[in-house]
Amino acid sequence: MNIVILGGGGFLGRRIARHLATTGTPGGRAVESLTLFDLHEPAPLDAPFPVVCLAGDIVSPPEAAIPPGTDVIFHFAAVVSAQAEADYELGRRVNLRGTDAVVDACRRLVTAGGKPPRVVFTSSVASFSGGQSANLADDARQIPANSYGAQKAAAELILADACRRGFMDTVSLRLPTVIVRPGRPNKAASSFFSAIVREPLLGLETELPVADSFAAWFCGPRAAADWLLHAAAMDSSPLGLDRGINPPGISATIGELLAGLDVVSPGASALVKRVPDPSVEAIVGPWPACFTPVRAHALGFRRHETVVELIRAFVEDDLEATKRDRGLVN
Ligand SMILES: NC(=O)c1ccc[n+]([C@@H]2O[C@H](COP(=O)([O-])OP(=O)(O)OC[C@H]3O[C@@H](n4cnc5c(N)ncnc54)[C@H](O)[C@@H]3O)[C@@H](O)[C@H]2O)c1
Repeated sequence: MNIVILGGGGFLGRRIARHLATTGTPGGRAVESLTLFDLHEPAPLDAPFPVVCLAGDIVSPPEAAIPPGTDVIFHFAAVVSAQAEADYELGRRVNLRGTDAVVDACRRLVTAGGKPPRVVFTSSVASFSGGQSANLADDARQIPANSYGAQKAAAELILADACRRGFMDTVSLRLPTVIVRPGRPNKAASSFFSAIVREPLLGLETELPVADSFAAWFCGPRAAADWLLHAAAMDSSPLGLDRGINPPGISATIGELLAGLDVVSPGASALVKRVPDPSVEAIVGPWPACFTPVRAHALGFRRHETVVELIRAFVEDDLEATKRDRGLVN
């Protein structure tokens, strides 16, 4: 299996690459090569198969980014929520024209006689709205309340049409907000959801811009990686024309996250300071707090663990590396 990760230097790209290098045989098939493509050349990766690391712009990728013989493309390259809202031109450029460029590359492979690659696209909960009272069914309409969500919904349609035309075999996962993200805060409006768990576990204070009663739809990196790898290998024929899937995340309030944090590290939530920020709330406020993902279960996407298990997984998988990255080790 020849695999490409566009956005392969980012959080989920790196996670999937490491997974493939250590345990990965998606769908029982061995990985023969991995290409990691990102704006900046992704760091080398130790793996039992060749790994090519390439730098470039997704809007005009070099041919080597999606080479002939590619079986699976993880299309993760994106400008994330708050940045896409703050910089309309950049968001449109990367999230829309970048997706067009992926379609063109796949079309060239097929025109040259290749097989349509499986394209696993990371759409988002932000492509929906409905807010705190929402509990969305699989057939809920995507009515985005910000430019990032609109660009994700539009990209889903373009990729579904490219699939219908035979250029690719698309599976779009509308990921929940993935927490706990290691490293540092980033430009996603959702960055604080991870920060209120990660920073206290590092012994650092952090700010909470929304109320404790605020609920959101989450998943952990372990579940996200499982789902993305399942999407890469699953039988896609039951999807028909409908290529978008709402995976089985968990709905939790900030209060429940902080209670989970205190179970894992008693007293840690005292480091979370309430500093309301209407600009953050304006972006995350309309995101639906809950889904009922029946289709995903039927398609074999695994159920999510509890909030406490999700926080324990961060401690096991990422806490020490995050301390090292941030110079917090004595
Ligand atoms: N992490 C989440 O909570 C979450 C939730 C829903 C959807 N998603 C989506 O999942 C995907 C991966 O998310 P992530 O958390 O790993 O984000 P990330 O920001 O860590 O990774 C995205 C990568 O895309 C790269 N990129 C940006 N512009 C580019 C360009 N012009 N050319 C090439 N590469 C470019 C960035 O350099 C970055 O490494 C994204 O598409 C994101 O929108 C993430």
